[in-house]
Amino acid sequence: MKIINATLRKTPGLHTITCEGAQISAITLQSAHIPAQAGDIDARGQLLIAPFVEPHIHLDAALTAGQPEWNLSGTLFEGIERWAQRKETITHEDTKLRAHATIRMLAEHGIQHVRTHVDVTDPTLAALRAIIEVRDEARHLIDLQIVAFPQEGIESYAGGRELMTLAVELGADVVGGIPHFENTREQGVSSIKFLMDLAERTGCLVDVHCDETDDPHSRFLEVLAEEARVRGMGSRVTASHTTAMGSYDNAYCSKLFRLLKASKINFVSCPTESIHLQGRFDTFPKRRGVTRVAEIDRAGMNVCFGQDSIKDPWYPLGNGNILRVLDAGLHICHMMGFEDLARSLDLVTDNSARTLNLGEGYGIAVGRPANLVVLDAESDYEAVRRQAKARVSIRAGKVLMTRVPEQVEFS
Ligand code: FE2
Repeated sequence: MKIINATLRKTPGLHTITCEGAQISAITLQSAHIPAQAGDIDARGQLLIAPFVEPHIHLDAALTAGQPEWNLSGTLFEGIERWAQRKETITHEDTKLRAHATIRMLAEHGIQHVRTHVDVTDPTLAALRAIIEVRDEARHLIDLQIVAFPQEGIESYAGGRELMTLAVELGADVVGGIPHFENTREQGVSSIKFLMDLAERTGCLVDVHCDETDDPHSRFLEVLAEEARVRGMGSRVTASHTTAMGSYDNAYCSKLFRLLKASKINFVSCPTESIHLQGRFDTFPKRRGVTRVAEIDRAGMNVCFGQDSIKDPWYPLGNGNILRVLDAGLHICHMMGFEDLARSLDLVTDNSARTLNLGEGYGIAVGRPANLVVLDAESDYEAVRRQAKARVSIRAGKVLMTRVPEQVEFS
């Protein structure tokens, strides 16, 4: 298979990308636009990118908003109440059906790599067992990383440590945590030490819901970063949300950044969800409740955007389109200068792939997997401005999905 007349990000000129089997076998610079032969995919000068990555989603809760009741206040706390109602009726098949439907939405938008958090504070680990099956069943559409996510805490939940350990034994790829939710500061700290030990012992990656609050005194990020630094595990560790950083004072944050840089950990921000759920105790002025994305990026650290929820009790919108989150995130994080716009897809492709530790399993280079997406835009800037859709998605050297761009005709 050949993709001709492709524009590659950060590389001038038109290119032909040749795929043999499931791998990219050649990338050649064209001297001019070339006509398509039978079987070629003509990118028509538009962007050919490595697939979008969804680094933070909750597939086990997706598509449950309004069941049985809607979250009327829109708050995190009513979301927890609504989720408790819905949890009573959840079945293995129901979880799988919703997860598959959500994965299809993601794949339709050119996403081929997904990290999902799955609630393991359930003595039966029902959701985890369902999502592990989904990971295999959906392999033709996406690669799925599963995080053992202790929604109700590790230390504060009866049997929390045992459930985390069992979740990894059953096949979770990533160890999660929620230190700011533990009953005490000491439990938050010990939960991080426990989860880092578990990850180090088992070779799992780490992704912690860390300081997802407006409380400026929620400072578990420093604990996570220091544990990662001392153990030399930083590139395998991710701090998700860190919304409290949006409320830290600058003097503390300046000291914190020294540690964060030394630790080499990754960051995920979910700007649509955070701006919706945070700032709820404020009157005016009202905080954005989002971490310091631009500042993390400027400091040379790795940060990416995720969707977090699709139509669940905490967040009622979402459709699988990561460019919608990118658009919102660039607004919310004050990243609308042209240099940011011109490399904005980094935040939903390369940076996210680094967070997921995809390594040589990702990217447009000879010998790498032939997982590619033709976007209906010729640059990062146009992609985000026009909310460009994936025109063609290629997976393992085969066309997975094509889309006919909509046409508007004035009469
Ligand atoms: Fe989350």
